[in-house]
Amino acid sequence: MAIRKIQTGDAACLYKVSKPVKGFDEKLWQLLDDMAETMYDADGCGLAAPQVGILRRVVVIDCSEDRNDLIEAINPEIIYTEGEQGGMEGCLSFPDEQGYVVRPRVAVMRALDRNGEVFERRGEGLLARAMLHECDHLDGRVYKTLVIPTPDEAKED
Ligand code: NI
Repeated sequence: MAIRKIQTGDAACLYKVSKPVKGFDEKLWQLLDDMAETMYDADGCGLAAPQVGILRRVVVIDCSEDRNDLIEAINPEIIYTEGEQGGMEGCLSFPDEQGYVVRPRVAVMRALDRNGEVFERRGEGLLARAMLHECDHLDGRVYKTLVIPTPDEAKED
C-alpha cells in the first residue's frame, strides 16, 4: 500500500468525467488499497479516484467514528434518494475550506465490490452525504459548485 498525492484546487482531473472500471484485477486492488490508506492518512471520510489523478469510477468511504467501516465502491450509482439535509461539507481536494450544501437525507448506492459483485448500501445523514459527494466527483462535479448561504446567512440578506 502507498499514500497517493491528493490533487487539489484547479487540477484538471477534478473536473473531468471518469470512465467505468472494466477489469477487476491486481491494478484495481492496488488502487483501492492505496485510496483507503490515503483517505485514512488524510483523516477524510471519502475519496474518489479522480482526486488521486485516476479518471476511473472508484470511490472509498468510511464515515464511522472508529474508522472500521470501509466501503469500496466501483462504478457506483445513486439509485434512490429521500428527504433533505443541510450541513457543512468539505473535501480533501479543498483543504481548510467548508461550505453549506443541501443534500438528500437518505441515499441508496448500487455498486460493484473489488471482485465485481454487485451490492447496495443505504446511508442516512453523513453517510448519504458522503456517497453523494463521492459519486459527484466521478462526474467532475465538486461540492463547491453546490454551496449556498447557510440559513443564518440567508436571513441577514
Ligand atoms: Ni471531495
